Amino acid sequence: MSSHMIAVIGGDGIGPEVVEAGVKVLEALTVAEPGLAFDFKRFDWGSDYYRGNGRMMPRDGLDQIKAFDAIYFGSVGDPNLPDDITLWGLRLAICQGFDQYANVRPTRLLPGLTGPLRPELGKRIDWVIVRENSEGEYAGVGGRVHRGLPIEVGMDVAVFTRTGIERIARFACDLASSRTRKLLTVVTKSNAQRHGMVLWDEVVREVVRDYPSLTVDWMLVDAMTQRMVNKPDSIDTVLATNLHADILSDLAAALGGSLGVGATSNIDPSRRHPSMFEPIHGSAFDIAGRGIANPIGSFWTASLMLDHLGEVAAARRLMVAIEIVTDRGEFLSPDLGGAASTAAVTAAVIEALRSN
Ligand code: IPM
Ligand code: MG
Repeated sequence: MSSHMIAVIGGDGIGPEVVEAGVKVLEALTVAEPGLAFDFKRFDWGSDYYRGNGRMMPRDGLDQIKAFDAIYFGSVGDPNLPDDITLWGLRLAICQGFDQYANVRPTRLLPGLTGPLRPELGKRIDWVIVRENSEGEYAGVGGRVHRGLPIEVGMDVAVFTRTGIERIARFACDLASSRTRKLLTVVTKSNAQRHGMVLWDEVVREVVRDYPSLTVDWMLVDAMTQRMVNKPDSIDTVLATNLHADILSDLAAALGGSLGVGATSNIDPSRRHPSMFEPIHGSAFDIAGRGIANPIGSFWTASLMLDHLGEVAAARRLMVAIEIVTDRGEFLSPDLGGAASTAAVTAAVIEALRSN
């Protein structure tokens, strides 16, 4: 029996709380699934580490985690530090350093949960958003000059490369092909942005030609928001740029009942580097330390991690346990309208793991 080596980075705010809950659930899963084993190693990187060391992670941080099978991540961001420092110093440094170019965000309204849409619409949500995760609007290219002067300039340049577009389009097409509906919606804004977005359209169009069994449609990002709300069942797999998918995935999470439920993977499909798995929510300092953070996003994330590690049966078993708990509705955290603590939700999922 070989153990999966997992680097655990709780990070900031509620991150460590939900990730430790996830580790408990994964450990419980090893009891239920013979042959499944983990070797967890914690890294105390994040904003407290920054206050002590002047960096979000050690200079050789990527070297320290590059041999792991996966990274299980909480969140990053601190009300007392600039967001661009905390994010670029840790989460984005890992995503870019390990070329995790595919960010995957599934959304479903889990059984028992009530989202903001009318129930007959909400129930139809079953989406996966594929977010380009290495370039585009988050490329980090740009600069600031003439600081403090009236002529001060700040620029972020959205960078689109043929290679970057082609590889994420191929990933999205493969993912869409693996799903029942074989339906891919490509999001763009080439009506207004006439260089990078037009290249995006051209290259994606070339790639989808290799997938004749897929139904492909195209949406401008603004129109996509209303389609997600009004016709959720017309959507299955979505391909979008880094920023567009960032925005659409928050909308998706809200329509799925709560930001506390959403899960994410940051994948290096070449498997040269470990991929990173994190709940979609942020550090939520307003509730940090109170023991009421919703761990479901972190559990769903753990299920995505298991899938990536090839532990498909365990991944499904964990998802079933999560759904048993949401469906029963007895142990829901405050963001879902309940009163259960993180620990109580965790215990309920562990209990459900034993029974399914
Ligand atoms: C997300 C988050 C991050 C992003 C922030 C925290 C930089 O919103 O994972 O969606 O925009 O990528
Ligand atoms: Mg976001």
